[in-house]
Amino acid sequence: MNDSPASHWRRARVTLNSNALSNNLKRVREFSPGCQVMAVIKANGYGHGMLNVSTQLDDADLFAVAMPEEAFALRASGCTKPVLVLHGFCSDEELEKFSRLNISTVVHQSCQLDLLLKSELSKPVDVWLKVDTGMHRLGVSLEHADSYFGRLRHSANVEKVYMMSHFANADDKGNSLNNNQLESFLNVINGIEAGCSMANSAAIMRLPKSHFEIVRPGIMLYGSSPFLDASAADLGLQAVMQFESQLIDIKQIKAGEAIGYGSIFVAEKDLTMGVVAVGYGDGYPRHAKTGTPVWLNEQRCELLGRVSMDSISIDLTGASASIGDRVVLWGNELSVDEVAATSETIAYELLCNAGAAYFSA
Ligand SMILES: Cc1ncc(COP(=O)(O)O)c(C=O)c1O
Repeated sequence: MNDSPASHWRRARVTLNSNALSNNLKRVREFSPGCQVMAVIKANGYGHGMLNVSTQLDDADLFAVAMPEEAFALRASGCTKPVLVLHGFCSDEELEKFSRLNISTVVHQSCQLDLLLKSELSKPVDVWLKVDTGMHRLGVSLEHADSYFGRLRHSANVEKVYMMSHFANADDKGNSLNNNQLESFLNVINGIEAGCSMANSAAIMRLPKSHFEIVRPGIMLYGSSPFLDASAADLGLQAVMQFESQLIDIKQIKAGEAIGYGSIFVAEKDLTMGVVAVGYGDGYPRHAKTGTPVWLNEQRCELLGRVSMDSISIDLTGASASIGDRVVLWGNELSVDEVAATSETIAYELLCNAGAAYFSA
């Protein structure tokens, strides 16, 4: 797989396990048998390189990206699979290009409907009407959905109309909004003949009634769990991104001495400290706290003090370690979800940020 020249300036490395991607896609199909799979590869394939991922996920039925430019790049790379742009288009020019390149669009607001209805497209496009069932992000309101659908259905610029919505809290199975959203969506699609899609990764795994014809997995494809109470391994998911670096120093710290910027970590007892060549400039989260796990020589060590731009300090007390040793920040040996949990963020952000330092597309 390709990596950008910027990656050559770093000791830290990101590598990708394409077998894990295939395994995770298989898990999607096991959780949602009979459904078509729209693999979500926006944000540069959640940091894994959109073009890498699109090639590896050849078994997916469709792809979803957020921006028109992502879809154009997919087509330029030779991808012929159906591609949906989740944000849709903003201008006649974009819409015409969708039509020319056979790219499907979401319609989520009135400007898009107006533009679409008054255009003269060279070829009709497939449209996914996005309905806001309670997330209150993108989507037309419940009361307008039916009229949007009718107008789209009768437009010569539209080939097929699909219906979609998105959950706000699918990762929290007991959240009452999930059922409300599902009920609202069921009401909207009642009597409408269209392929429907609602389920993201969490809903694929825990809300089977929301599967409909097409599911839209993102994070589970990359081997991360959307749930706090189940690990990726529990769900049969495998890490795709392996983020590693090297140990570049080992030194003794005395009780009472502080480590790193801000001196926020002060040793309570004498300890052995290691320095690893990775920092926020390489995509490691600056908000990772003391205690965040780091894996070295079959051992779990802990981060100490603040993350710097190109280094972190770890506790090597009692560990066997030598300068030059391989250190795993996340990947097979250590889940990105664990690192996210102690960094006040989610794996989605960590994967996007780390990948950005290594994969241009
Ligand atoms: C509209 C839409 N569908 C599906 C997904 C995939 O979600 P997840 O990564 O939680 O599976 C996303 C991601 O944000 C999305 O915006």
